[in-house]
Order: sequence, then structure tokens, then C-alpha cells
Amino acid sequence: MRILGIETSCDETGVAIYDDENGLLAHQLYSQVKLHADYGGVVPELASRDHVKKTIPLIKAALKEANLTQQDIDGVAFTAGPGLVGALLVGATIGRSLAYAWNVPAVPVHHMEGHLLAPMLEEKAPAFPFVALLVSGGHTLLVDVKGMGDYTILGESIDDAAGEAFDKTAKLMGLDYPGGPRLAKLAENGVAGRFTFPRPMTDRPGLDMSFSGLKTFAANTIRANDDDEQTRADIAFAFQQAVVDTLAIKCKRALKETGHKRLVIAGGVSANVYLREQLAEMMSAMHGEVFYPRNEFCTDNGAMIAYAGMQRLKNGETLDLGVKAHPRWPIDQLTAIKA
Ligand code: KG4
Ligand code: ZN
Repeated sequence: MRILGIETSCDETGVAIYDDENGLLAHQLYSQVKLHADYGGVVPELASRDHVKKTIPLIKAALKEANLTQQDIDGVAFTAGPGLVGALLVGATIGRSLAYAWNVPAVPVHHMEGHLLAPMLEEKAPAFPFVALLVSGGHTLLVDVKGMGDYTILGESIDDAAGEAFDKTAKLMGLDYPGGPRLAKLAENGVAGRFTFPRPMTDRPGLDMSFSGLKTFAANTIRANDDDEQTRADIAFAFQQAVVDTLAIKCKRALKETGHKRLVIAGGVSANVYLREQLAEMMSAMHGEVFYPRNEFCTDNGAMIAYAGMQRLKNGETLDLGVKAHPRWPIDQLTAIKA
């Protein structure tokens, strides 16, 4: 069985074709980064309009890449939320219409479930159960994953998402949007120990997180110091270290609480090399293992939507005639899929 997956929830248009026997057959991605760069962040209306232009050409390109025609597709999955409503509606409308025209089921997919399952596309895929740390530009979640679709939220950020904190701090440092990867690059030349940022909410029990204070701490540190390149790198390093340390402390707690030995990290920030290194070290000390998607599937993409869509399609979760888009949609409202 083959499914087409469409992702348009934010500033990336992603399309992929997944086969439940042969795996990923094609994936196409168009990033709107350049479109939004001048504004220092995503402009929702521009994002929607660009998805309108790019989605169908990318679908054609994916079919060509896989050497398939529309007759070979057994279902169409699209991101139905959470995300920017206008952007979601583009993928949902195109996905629903194509499914109607091709006479195949349409499958609404939860964007964060897509991220959570992205490591399943890798050779080293995690077995259930595991703890998932989902760190993207819009969400920071710790999830107890007992099985496919069986999600309990253990903790989440009460303010800024981890990626958002990276982006906002990067902006304060004069780095272009999206700042996360640029700040990480700057931090490579940073020296440890010169600045120390707080580890928010680690001094009390619980698995919720808070990252908005770090951006304020960064603003004050930038103001109080010289603006030479080494100082900037040292500040970037200290900021990154604080975010990563905080995430690691919370992951360790979640693993102890659930008794799971496997940790999955996914979402844009899971591409962060320092985060991967620190969590790999921690998991090895705990005699556990860490799993993450390849870099291109950490950030938004169609492959994760096609994969999650396949699981939902097999579970009979298809959509009647109508378009579904949920800007807010808690991941624990999804139904568990029996093995
Ligand atoms: O998952 P994603 O593509 O979009 C959302 O669903 O939000 O995540 C994008 C976020 C951005 O905030 C970006 O700055 C951050 O992931 N990001 C990184 C890195 N690569 C992407 N943050 C830190 N280090 C990175 N290497
Ligand atoms: Zn995302």
C-alpha cells in the first residue's frame, strides 16, 4: 500500500510517498526561509500563498521521483494540525480534493505525531515503549509513548518552545531567521565557563519547562558585555548549554518516572549536535539508548506525515468529505493503535 503525505503547517512545503512494504519512495521539500527572512519570522499570509504555489508541483515531482502515477496511490495524508490555520488549510484542501479525485481515502495527520514517529524511518528505529522529547519551533513536549498512538503528555513548556527560545535569542544577537541553527554554529567557537545561564524549573519537581526567561537573561548578558566575536560565541555557547542541560535534566526525570530505557528526540531542535551529544552521553550512563531522525527529517517534512498517515490509514482513520484543520490539537487526544 502506498500513501502520499503533504505537510504545509508552517514555512516548509513537504511532500512524500511512503510504501508500507518498501519504505520511503520519494520526498520533496521546499523551504520558505528566504521568503520570511526579511521579516525576521514567519508571515502567515505569505506562507499560505506560497504553499498554494508549491504543493502541486512538489506532488508531481514526488510521483516522478518514485516513478509512479496517481493510480499507484492508495491514500492521501495531510497535516491537519497543529499549525498556522491558513497554511494548514492549503494542504488540507489540496489533500482532500486529490483524494476525492483519485477515489482514495483522505487521512488527517497530527503534525507532532509526525515528528514523534520520524525516527521510525531510520534504520535504527526505536521499539515501543519510549519517552519522546519533541522540540520544535512551536512545541516542547515530553511524552510517554506506550505504543503507536498511545501518548501521555508528561510535561511541556509553559511559555516559549525550545526552538522559539533559540530563534528569539539568535535575533537578539543579530542573527538572521531562522536563528536556531545559526546560533548553534556561533556556539561552536564558544568557551565554556565564561557565562552561566540559569536552568529554569529544574530546582523543583515536575516535568514542565520554561524557556522565555533565558531570552531575557541573554538580552541582559549581551547588554552588559562587549560585542566582539568571541564574547558573542561565548554567550551563544552558554545559552545553548542551558537549554540542553535543562532538557537533559527533564528527560532523565521522565525516564526514571516511566522506567523506559529508550529516548526519542524529534522536531527541529533535535538536529542540534550539542543536544544529541549530551543526550547520547546521558543515555549511555543510564544503560539506555537515544534515537533521532536524520537531519532533514528533524525539521518539517512530508516523509513523517506520509509515515504517520500510513499508520492512521491502516487503522481505518479516514476523513469523510470535508476539510479538517485544527490550529490547536493536543497530541494526547489521538487514539491508540493496537499492534
Ligand atoms: O520542527 P520544526 O521544523 O518546525 C516546527 O514544527 O516548529 O522546527 C523548527 C525549529 C526552529 O525554531 C529552528 O530554529 C530550530 O527548530 N532548529 C534548531 C536547529 N535546527 C533547527 N535549533 C537549534 N539548533 C539547531 N541545529
Ligand atoms: Zn514541526
